[in-house]
Amino acid sequence: MKKGTVRTAFVCQHCGYETGRWLGRCPTCGQWHSFAEEKQYSNRQLAGRQQHGWLNSAVCRLDEMDGQAEQRLPTGIGELDRVLGGGLVPGSLILLGGDPGVGKSTLALQLAISCAGRMTTLYVSGEESAAQVRGRCQRLAGGGRSPMLFLADTVWENIVGLVEKHAPQLLIIDSVQTIMTAEGEGTAGSVSQIREVAARLLLMAKSRDLSVVIIGHVTKDGIIAGPRLLEHMVDVVLYVTGDRSRALRLVRAEKNRFGPTAEIGIFTMAGNGLVEVVNPSRHLIGERPRGVAGSVITTGMEGRRPILIEVQALVCESCFGVPRRTADGFDGNRLALLLAVLDRRAGLPLGRHDVYLNVVGGLSIGEPAADLAVAVAVASAASGRVVTEDTLVCGELGLTGEVRAVTRGEERLREAAALGFSRFMLPAANCREEWARAMPGELVPVDNVRQAIRSALAD
Ligand code: TYD
Ligand code: MG
Repeated sequence: MKKGTVRTAFVCQHCGYETGRWLGRCPTCGQWHSFAEEKQYSNRQLAGRQQHGWLNSAVCRLDEMDGQAEQRLPTGIGELDRVLGGGLVPGSLILLGGDPGVGKSTLALQLAISCAGRMTTLYVSGEESAAQVRGRCQRLAGGGRSPMLFLADTVWENIVGLVEKHAPQLLIIDSVQTIMTAEGEGTAGSVSQIREVAARLLLMAKSRDLSVVIIGHVTKDGIIAGPRLLEHMVDVVLYVTGDRSRALRLVRAEKNRFGPTAEIGIFTMAGNGLVEVVNPSRHLIGERPRGVAGSVITTGMEGRRPILIEVQALVCESCFGVPRRTADGFDGNRLALLLAVLDRRAGLPLGRHDVYLNVVGGLSIGEPAADLAVAVAVASAASGRVVTEDTLVCGELGLTGEVRAVTRGEERLREAAALGFSRFMLPAANCREEWARAMPGELVPVDNVRQAIRSALAD
């Protein structure tokens, strides 16, 4: 390190915000007592210790480059490949985030086991010992052996040594918060250490064409502990979510420089690790109650995949002056809007009733194509009348109560037809399309919410 005056700054250990003086409360994230003093090296001072090798600094003409498609290394885990956009891209840095205990290490270990046979894989754990990981690995590999390399260490310099020696194609770090470098400031897990380690990992990934997966813990507030900065530095941010009390685990790409971000991977946590859910629709509606008011099935698009989802509503008289509205897996404001539409356009006043809405299975619906299903579920719950179990309901609702066309109608219906549904309540506009007339089963075209409720709750 070159000598010279080193400036210091106060850095929020929660979000990475920097300021010249100590503050009791961070103005950006609102955290109390989160500032720590850190040394700030200038670019010149840093020049001595950082290598800028990866860019090769040669200008090229993009239109004259070889038309090779981006190389992908399939992970062998179909649901993970789907989220990544086809597999790992060599030279990419992937951040795997999620709550403690949700299954990040499990997924990372399964990834290592799956890849180790085809590429040199190094798994570095700063959290668990070799014996611990070995036991888990044997369980996950179903008693089989995995040729992956393992290192239990938290010192960056040791990791570099091993990478140079073994030249892996896949490097997994569990977790970035535990690794520290002798040249960084602060203790492991501090903002400056995380930033330092991540910058070095990025350089390592790009210069060696190495795929790097780093695990990052998420704090209570849902941001990756340490700086948000980490999310900006990496190429791909994957989040593992799921209720710990339930088996379903979703892997979602929050950011992906090499693929779509709308896709989700669906797993269940079992005794032998994360198991891919081959047919999510069957899984999600498998336990639905039959012949009960308040339950409606609709199709949501998760990325390019249609998935059948059960919407449940419960309506009861309110004990207090202000009725309660609770929505789980659905936007609360959208629910309020739909209740207003039901009141004014379908003659269903619920001003003195509590309304609870639940999207079953832990998924959340963000698309308006679920509007009609929500409205029908509420109407069914309020009236006690049942929607027959072979009925699928899809449609967007407008403020005048009109039912508007949905996108990808054909795919939504085919998914439902494959699972035995035979009555399809659809926006009239969709029913006029050619594919609709060729669908097996009964089409119920609807123009407005009043008509939809009347035909859905006919029996
Ligand atoms: P883990 O991957 O260690 O979580 P993270 O790294 O995100 O903190 O997963 C921990 C939980 O997963 C733990 O509560 C036990 C459960 N689990 C299973 O149910 N089956 C398994 O095969 C494994 C490995 C873990
Ligand atoms: Mg872990």
